[in-house]
Amino acid sequence: MTILVTGATGNVGRHLVEQLAAEGHSVRALARNPDAVRFPAGVETVAVDLTDLASVERALAGATGLHLLTALGSTNQTIPDSVALLEAAAGAGVRRVTTLWNGYKGPVEEAVEASGLEWTHVQPGEFMSNAAVWAEEIKAEGVVREAFGHIAHAPAHPADIAAVAATALTTGEHAGQEYRLTGPEALPVPAQVEAIGAAIGRELRFEALTEEQGKQRMRDIGMEDEAIDYVIGWRADPPKWTLEPSDLVEQVTGRPARTFAQWAEENTAVFK
Ligand SMILES: NC(=O)c1ccc[n+]([C@@H]2O[C@H](COP(=O)([O-])OP(=O)(O)OC[C@H]3O[C@@H](n4cnc5c(N)ncnc54)[C@H](OP(=O)(O)O)[C@@H]3O)[C@@H](O)[C@H]2O)c1
Repeated sequence: MTILVTGATGNVGRHLVEQLAAEGHSVRALARNPDAVRFPAGVETVAVDLTDLASVERALAGATGLHLLTALGSTNQTIPDSVALLEAAAGAGVRRVTTLWNGYKGPVEEAVEASGLEWTHVQPGEFMSNAAVWAEEIKAEGVVREAFGHIAHAPAHPADIAAVAATALTTGEHAGQEYRLTGPEALPVPAQVEAIGAAIGRELRFEALTEEQGKQRMRDIGMEDEAIDYVIGWRADPPKWTLEPSDLVEQVTGRPARTFAQWAEENTAVFK
């Protein structure tokens, strides 16, 4: 059984590759630049661009499982050619697919469901790792500035998102499920900032921004208008389910979901 992991250098993919390898599965890590990350010994890496179908096809030989990013980049552009990609996967022997779904059912999810393969959609709300965007302000000034920071999301730990995908890919017990995946607690931004402060042993401040100030801050750090509108749109009016903690991680994996405090402890180097 060889499992292909797209987005292998990303927040979730890295954990997924590690977990599958630790469990003794044969893993092929795919990304445009897979050698940017050091994977556990024995993990195969293949350079794949999901916007180039031929590169995906070349990576499929011998694969039985596939973890598929459905969207790319800061504005979540849907991957192209998904029907052909799924056909190629099935033809190569893939039997089981997980998607890392970005919340809106689109052509990739439809192609996956029509493919005849066993599929599981893993649909996270916010990732805890989104907090890494505050690193520079925290390091330089001990402050986090955000618009809509009072809204309490229930972010999920990337390793838990990966663990749900790993369970679906390796057990086959979650076929046909669409899992809306949130973390164990709802935390407004100031509470997340407090947890990071506690982890790094430094008192941090939160400054609430207006929507316009929030947009300007993103321009200042080099984000493009389309990405800014996407992020602000999500922050101002998130899907309600992303605000509700859930025990899905424990239900699927048998282990309690990791807390934000735990994520902050594991990532102190990001903020120091
Ligand atoms: N952050 C959130 O709150 C959130 C919430 C829900 C869903 N999501 C979804 O989660 C996914 C991102 O997950 P993440 O945070 O684990 O990743 P990430 O850390 O944002 O990294 C993006 C990954 O995608 C790969 N990638 C980008 N463009 C690619 C391309 N053209 N072809 C192949 N690989 C490409 C990158 O690898 P290389 O650069 O090495 O190619 C990297 O592995 C997105 O699809 C997003 O829609 C995110």
